[in-house]
Amino acid sequence: MKKIKRHSLIERIEHWSIAVSGIILLFTGLGCLPLYKRYYITEIPGFGWTADFYTVTLVHYVASIIFVSAVIFHIFYHGLRKEFGLLPRRGDIKNSFKVILAMIGIGKEPPSDKYLPEQRIAYVGIGLVVLTLTVTGIIKVLKNLEWIILSPQAESINTIIHTLTGFLFIFVLIFHVGVVLLFKSNWPLLKSMFTGYVDEEYAKHRHSLWYRKYKN
Ligand code: HEM
Repeated sequence: MKKIKRHSLIERIEHWSIAVSGIILLFTGLGCLPLYKRYYITEIPGFGWTADFYTVTLVHYVASIIFVSAVIFHIFYHGLRKEFGLLPRRGDIKNSFKVILAMIGIGKEPPSDKYLPEQRIAYVGIGLVVLTLTVTGIIKVLKNLEWIILSPQAESINTIIHTLTGFLFIFVLIFHVGVVLLFKSNWPLLKSMFTGYVDEEYAKHRHSLWYRKYKN
């Protein structure tokens, strides 16, 4: 079967470095609260290190360097190349409902560009959570280095925002992965996040607007 290119190697590295470091950040972030001793996670073989606050924080810092670098790269790389296919468009909310209904067998899916309307809406949600986490996380680091001095009140507001958006991040991640895994029609997209390619037939039917542009 003929394949067409959907994601470059750079885009795949970008996505998976954000995904893997994001999951590590969530895990170690919860560990910083600290939660793992209370719930006996530290007793699980291989998870003993989660009992040590210093080690958990160190892993959180290392993962945050990868995460923040990839986020900054994403903004500049796609911004400079003027690739704005993931930004929402007029009619996306209405069309998202149509796509979701079509996924459960009701009605016909509207023709889609490279990304589905709900992917563009999800992108804004994921993006806002990621940016808030990044900015509040950077403020936490600068405050620890004593490069900026915050009043105790400002410091606790920053910490509360960081922690709450951390929890929101869990929800957007579960939602994002759930939508990919639960709907069979999304499985070829998961494959393309590893290989870079989708079947030509899939693109022709599901992303007809993108397919037409791709062929011209
Ligand atoms: C911290 C974790 C993650 C973040 C921040 C993230 C972010 C994103 C973003 C912004 C997109 C662009 C389109 C969209 O909004 O749907 C995307 C696409 C995608 N992601 Fe993730 N992702 C994460 C984890 C994962 C994981 C664990 C999987 C594995 C199931 C996954 C699978 C995919 C797939 C299949 C696409 C669609 C690609 C396409 O349209 O061709 N992501 N991700």
